[in-house]
Amino acid sequence: MNILAIESSCDETAAAVVKDGRRILSNVVFSQIDIHKVYGGVVPEIASRCHVDKITALVKKAVADSGLSMSRIDAVAATSAPGLIGALLVGLNFAKGIAYANGLELIPVHHIRAHIAANYLVHPSLEPPFLAMVVSGGHSHIVSVNDYTDYKIVGMTRDDAAGEAFDKGARVLSLPYPGGVEMDRLSAGGDPKAVKFPRVSFKDSPFDFSFSGVKTAIINYVHTAQQRGQIINKADIAASYSDAVTDVLADKFYSAAACLGADRLVVAGGVCANSMLRHKLETRLPSGCRLFMPPLSLCGDNAAMVGAQAYYEYNAGFIADLDQNAAATANIELPLCKPKR
Ligand code: KG4
Ligand code: ZN
Repeated sequence: MNILAIESSCDETAAAVVKDGRRILSNVVFSQIDIHKVYGGVVPEIASRCHVDKITALVKKAVADSGLSMSRIDAVAATSAPGLIGALLVGLNFAKGIAYANGLELIPVHHIRAHIAANYLVHPSLEPPFLAMVVSGGHSHIVSVNDYTDYKIVGMTRDDAAGEAFDKGARVLSLPYPGGVEMDRLSAGGDPKAVKFPRVSFKDSPFDFSFSGVKTAIINYVHTAQQRGQIINKADIAASYSDAVTDVLADKFYSAAACLGADRLVVAGGVCANSMLRHKLETRLPSGCRLFMPPLSLCGDNAAMVGAQAYYEYNAGFIADLDQNAAATANIELPLCKPKR
């Protein structure tokens, strides 16, 4: 089954064709980073307009690159939640237009489910059940994936997401947007033990995250140094900050795995591109467990991951009517439409 998939939940316009949920036939992404850079972050209204500008050409290219004609496309999928609402509506409505014009079925896809599904594209043996950690700009979740469309949240952030923590920390260090990747680069040359930043945990829910404390700590550290006229070592601060954030992510994920007896462990989302996190996940992996991560090219937002998840949503009957709406927030445990079969 060939699915044409669209992703437009934030600042990447993306289209892909994916075969049977596992094979990428084409995958094109337009990043709006240069457009938002001057504002120091994503401007939702500008993101929506930029999706409108780019989406037609990207979808045409995805179909052309797949080597298939439109008549060989079997269904169309789009991220319909969660994300920036105006941005989501562009991709979803474009998908509806394609579905209507070509008599195809429409598959709405949850963005966080899609991030997890990026792993299906590169790990042929990976099948649920497994334990996943999704770390992106808007979400930090530990989720039991019981089946392709059956999820149970084990822990999540109580405030900021891990990606937000990286982006805010980078801003305090006056690094350019998007901050996560810049923090990663800068950290490589710093001493992770130079500054002691807090690692927060909760007694009552040990697998929940909180990054607002570490964010406040870096703000206070930098401002205090500036007020005292001290020269700060940005690489040391970046490395120490990244050390704190990635310690929390790796340790909570692995203690959740131990507690639940999970031995197949999947990580996904933009922050999964972080080199310190990847290193800790690999070196701290409990014995007897297997770790699955996407390559860097599939950690950030893309439409191939949407096409992968869409295949399993389709198989479970989650096919939408053409009045399907988008939503800025959506619980990963709940389907985005009623099953048709
Ligand atoms: O999954 P994603 O592309 O979009 C969302 O669904 O949010 O994640 C974007 C987030 C941003 O916060 C970005 O700074 C962060 O992932 N990120 C990184 C790295 N690359 C991207 N954070 C830390 N280190 C990186 N190398
Ligand atoms: Zn994402």
